[in-house]
Amino acid sequence: FNVPAPVNEPVYTYAPGTKERSLLKAAISEARANEIDVPMYIGSEEVRTENKVKLTPPHDHQHVLGYYSQGTKSHVTDAIHAALAAKADWENLAWEQRAAIFLKAAELAATKYRYKLNAATMLGQSKSAYQAEIDSACEFTDFLRFNVQYMSEIYAQQPPANSKGVWNRVEQRPLEGFVFALTPFNFTAIAGNLPSCVAMMGNVVVWKPSNAQIYSANILMQIFKEAGLPDGVINLVYVSGPDAGDVIFKHPDFAGIHFTGSTGVFQDIWKTIGQNIHLYKTYPRIVGETGGKDFILAHPSADLAVLNTALVRGAFEYQGQKCSAASRAYVPQSLWSKLQHSMEKDIKSFKMGGTEDFGNFINAVIDEKAFDKITKYIDKAKDSADAEVVIGGGYDKSKGYFIEPTVILAKTPDYETLSEELFGPVLTIYVYEDKDWSETLKLVDSTSIYALTGAVISQDRYAIQEATHALRNAAGNFYINDKCTGAVVGQQPFGGARGSGTNDKAGSMINLLRWVSPRTIKETF
Ligand code: ALA
Repeated sequence: FNVPAPVNEPVYTYAPGTKERSLLKAAISEARANEIDVPMYIGSEEVRTENKVKLTPPHDHQHVLGYYSQGTKSHVTDAIHAALAAKADWENLAWEQRAAIFLKAAELAATKYRYKLNAATMLGQSKSAYQAEIDSACEFTDFLRFNVQYMSEIYAQQPPANSKGVWNRVEQRPLEGFVFALTPFNFTAIAGNLPSCVAMMGNVVVWKPSNAQIYSANILMQIFKEAGLPDGVINLVYVSGPDAGDVIFKHPDFAGIHFTGSTGVFQDIWKTIGQNIHLYKTYPRIVGETGGKDFILAHPSADLAVLNTALVRGAFEYQGQKCSAASRAYVPQSLWSKLQHSMEKDIKSFKMGGTEDFGNFINAVIDEKAFDKITKYIDKAKDSADAEVVIGGGYDKSKGYFIEPTVILAKTPDYETLSEELFGPVLTIYVYEDKDWSETLKLVDSTSIYALTGAVISQDRYAIQEATHALRNAAGNFYINDKCTGAVVGQQPFGGARGSGTNDKAGSMINLLRWVSPRTIKETF
């Protein structure tokens, strides 16, 4: 099928003096100056409740951006009804028509809404201009455009063989029921992709975003609506996790969940679905990307500059809150003192503050709960005999939830921050004896329950091959001589296994195939 060939959306740099920079600054000022009253979107209704919750920038928590309406279980029930009511028309719409809606949404996100969506991601989720750009302007539109391509390939798949007097077909049906999209705060793109790629395949969706992403989710929803998405196909509700779960996982028409979030929540959801399995018409599709403890492994042959960049960018961009962020590193003794010196120099040069000042490289972590959790780990490391805070370690939540980029040196390979997920700007380094390379490969593989991303930095081809083989199951996205973040849609399909998820690669045909249920038709003449 001839769909427009997808290309990755070009990334604007927002360098001083550029037109894009002024447009983005204007969008930020406008958003800061105008409080908004964000509704839930259920069927054709914009639903507001009396229970208003403040939306504030994590880096400026006294500033009110607006309010969202907290919903209850009855709103989840309404959203399911609206979804099911929209289902018949939506699934009977030709796939080209559905595709056109999402291609239009991509255009809107890349043009008319680009600055507004970036500004919302910067203010609501405390991303720098560049981090917002590669997320909400680029990755989101890439997801839409590439998924349309994969969708067309699914519908165009080679039909089965026929025999004499027989015509065999395979029909890619949407799932029987509705799908629940439960989305994270850390990527506007992921939040937009999880419901939209499910809907693209003819399904109807109830979408619950993270509370910390509601400000930009509201704009995503406006984009989908303006692109022509019919009412009820995606319904956006703001309710507590238990309220959503109580209604959704007991509903006979629950047909699947598309999830990105913590491993613990996903495991609880999986158990609940298991307990309720007798209630459902069909076995639900369970697709999730969960936690990570992503690693960078340096070989003694590593190029120091490459290693340094991989670590400081991989660990500290977006305050270490990318699911892909490097949070543990294994460095040979022979490189450590030089590396420490160069990291210190870079990290000291990073400015920290609000996202409105484009010179700030480090912004705030998402909320007080995250701040308290991360700083507790930092304090523990300061007091521990098994660890030492060698860079950073400071924090302050008086204006925003600011934590300095922090490097912990672990003196034992089982120190807790080498295995536990902190989801913040904290990198733990374990320095190994150069001769212990093979043992270190085993350590990297066995230290954490997760397997999302990882990198090896080496100039030695034998070592690269050895690491690639030994760490085969330690990361779903494995990088050689690069940081372990920044997967690009259409280039590096993203996802991990073990405790990191079902590895149904976001932005790939593998993922889209989870949202259809094929029917084989044999006709005999
Ligand atoms: N695309 C994001 C990354 O790889 C998730 O960092």
